[in-house]
Amino acid sequence: MLSNGRGKRFLEVILARVPVRDGRARCHPGEVPQNASLRSPWFAPPAARAWRCAPAPAEVRRFHASLPGYAPTPLTELPPPAAELGIGRVFVKDESRRLGLPAFKALGASWAVHRLLAERDEDSGPVTLVTATDGNHGRALARTARLLGQRARVLVPRGVHPLAVAAIAAEGAEVTEVPGSYDEAVRLAAEAAAAPDAVLVQDTAWPGYERVPGWIVEGYSTLSAEIDEQLAAAGIDGPGLVAVPVGVGSLAQSVVTHYRSRRSGNPPALVAVEPEAAPCVLASLTRGAPVSVATGETTMAGLNCGTPSSLAWPFLRSGLDAAVAVRDADSARAAADLAALGVRSGPCGAAALAGLRALLGGEDGAEHRAALGLGPDSVAVLLSTEGPDANPYAEL
Ligand SMILES: Cc1ncc(COP(=O)(O)O)c(C=O)c1O
Repeated sequence: MLSNGRGKRFLEVILARVPVRDGRARCHPGEVPQNASLRSPWFAPPAARAWRCAPAPAEVRRFHASLPGYAPTPLTELPPPAAELGIGRVFVKDESRRLGLPAFKALGASWAVHRLLAERDEDSGPVTLVTATDGNHGRALARTARLLGQRARVLVPRGVHPLAVAAIAAEGAEVTEVPGSYDEAVRLAAEAAAAPDAVLVQDTAWPGYERVPGWIVEGYSTLSAEIDEQLAAAGIDGPGLVAVPVGVGSLAQSVVTHYRSRRSGNPPALVAVEPEAAPCVLASLTRGAPVSVATGETTMAGLNCGTPSSLAWPFLRSGLDAAVAVRDADSARAAADLAALGVRSGPCGAAALAGLRALLGGEDGAEHRAALGLGPDSVAVLLSTEGPDANPYAEL
């Protein structure tokens, strides 16, 4: 169990990293103001695909398989986007129904809470699991707490749809709406977790707070493991490209870990997609060092994060092949096109297709296709990380 003193240290660290005045994040040296031009995608040198790391623990997959209601989420082939993008085949990993919730996040919350509770005395009373959320992680943590007889306290920044906030409260969590950014909500959650019998279960990391976020990242590994199994069942030896919607980069860290630790198969190109309103990973990769960005408004609420996870950053810097930012209108169009093909995506989930269109369409498409090692036989997997029920801004 984490002590109060440790919770205070988390707070001190994050207070030092995310200075806030009047509810708005201030830029400090290394920060990128919101209006800085980040319209150009970032590409790694081709050698990036040779980078290797250790895999996630194998017991994560077994743990999820043992949960009531577990089933692999669908991997659906969509021929029209493949023809449009000039590649062989496109599959969408559809996370709109994962462990009874409309986003992938329960994979991380369930494994992290399992690890946390395993460390507590059996006769200690319930713990309050505290987090900040753009919607999905908080709902998953609240559900996990409810199922395991624990309490949840969830802090929600501005810009999260009222129905998403109500869904967290409906899980029995104490919900506090914060009139500030996601980074500000994270700062306040770290403060709240200093209360007795409270533990911060945050899906982003900073120096001094990396163990719990590390478990959350491990939890996401089941998603990539399922993709490999599903492609293998279709006779495909792994993808040639995976497109990942990115907020703080924890999910992308998990995808990088999976594909840069495999012993067999060709390493795929890994692409990060962010909203133009919150491109903290694109800004960091472009600078070559982690930076915070001042975030704006976006329908891609789950991606509206201003600071990359400290734990994710080394994996993103060394393991990603490209990063791109997309507009809300691009994600909305992608969601509509996916819906017409039978896949229900929320704005964050549809960002993966929007990002691939931004990279492979247009006049630089052929050059970008070559930079990513894509050809007419390549297989791309788009992570559709949420359904429209998770984030009703899809209906705007
Ligand atoms: C639907 C959805 N997709 C993608 C992400 C991005 O995950 P990460 O913040 O780990 O980059 C989130 C994060 O909340 C999300 O809710």
